[in-house]
Amino acid sequence: MLLLIRPMPLEKIPMWVTIPINFMLKRILAVADTVHPFIYRDTFPSGLEPLDLVLIAGDLPGYYIEFIATRCTCPVVYVHGNHGEEKVKDYLGQMVDPGGAINAHGRFIRAGDFRIVGWGGAPKYNERDDGGQYTGNQVKWGLGKLEWGLWLEKRRKTNAFDIFLTHAPPPGPHAGTDYAHRGCKEIGLFLERHTPALMVHGHVHAYEGRKLEYHTDSGVRVVNAYGYTVLEIEVPSAVNQINSSLSEPISSGIFASKTNASTD
Ligand SMILES: [Fe+2]
Repeated sequence: MLLLIRPMPLEKIPMWVTIPINFMLKRILAVADTVHPFIYRDTFPSGLEPLDLVLIAGDLPGYYIEFIATRCTCPVVYVHGNHGEEKVKDYLGQMVDPGGAINAHGRFIRAGDFRIVGWGGAPKYNERDDGGQYTGNQVKWGLGKLEWGLWLEKRRKTNAFDIFLTHAPPPGPHAGTDYAHRGCKEIGLFLERHTPALMVHGHVHAYEGRKLEYHTDSGVRVVNAYGYTVLEIEVPSAVNQINSSLSEPISSGIFASKTNASTD
C-alpha cells in the first residue's frame, strides 16, 4: 500500500518551534551632510573593514558621491538633500547624476542583500527651489505611489523592505528644533506603516551631544548618518531568510547590530 505523507505547510508550524539561525555580519557605511576627512582622503577605504553597502543620506556634493563610488566595490546608494548639490557636470557641460551610485529617491531598489526605499529632500521651509524641498502632499503622493509596488514584497515577507534611506528625519528624537530641520510627518507615518529594520537619514547636524541612534516604539533602528557612521549588522544567512518568513518575531528581529559611529 502506498502511504502518502503530506508535509505540514510552513505557516502551520507552531510559533514555539525554535529555528536555529545562522547570521552573517554585514557592514554598512552611512554618510551625510559634510565631507568628512576620514572618507575624503587618498587612502580611503583603508582602515575600514570590507563594506557590503554604502548609504549616502543627502546634502553631499556630487564629486564626493563619485569619489566614494569609485573607491568602493560594494553598491553605493544615495538620496539628494535640500541644497541641490548632488549633480556633476558631464563632458558636454550638462548637470547629471553622479556616476557609479544608485539614486534611490522615490524608488524601491535591491542592492546586494538589501531591499531599500529612498526619499530625498526636506519638508518645505521657504520659497527657494533647489529641487530638494517637498510639501506634505508631495511626500504623501510620492511615497503613496511607491506603496502600490510594495504590496507584492509584503506578501513574500513580513516587511516590504529592509532599509529606509531619507535625508529628512521623522518626527522624534532626531528632529531639529528649528522649522527647516523639523521632522517630516509623512516620512514618520510611512516608517510606522512598514517598520523596516533600519532607517538612515541626514539633514540634522549632530551637534550638542545629540544621540546618533535610537529605536522607535515599533522597533525600527533610526540612525543619523551625519559625518560618517559604520554600522555592523547581523543578517540571517540565505537559508534562514526563507525560514524567517515563518513568523513575525524572527523576521522582524533580523537586524541585531552594533554601531561604530564617528562624526565631526
Ligand atoms: Fe539638509
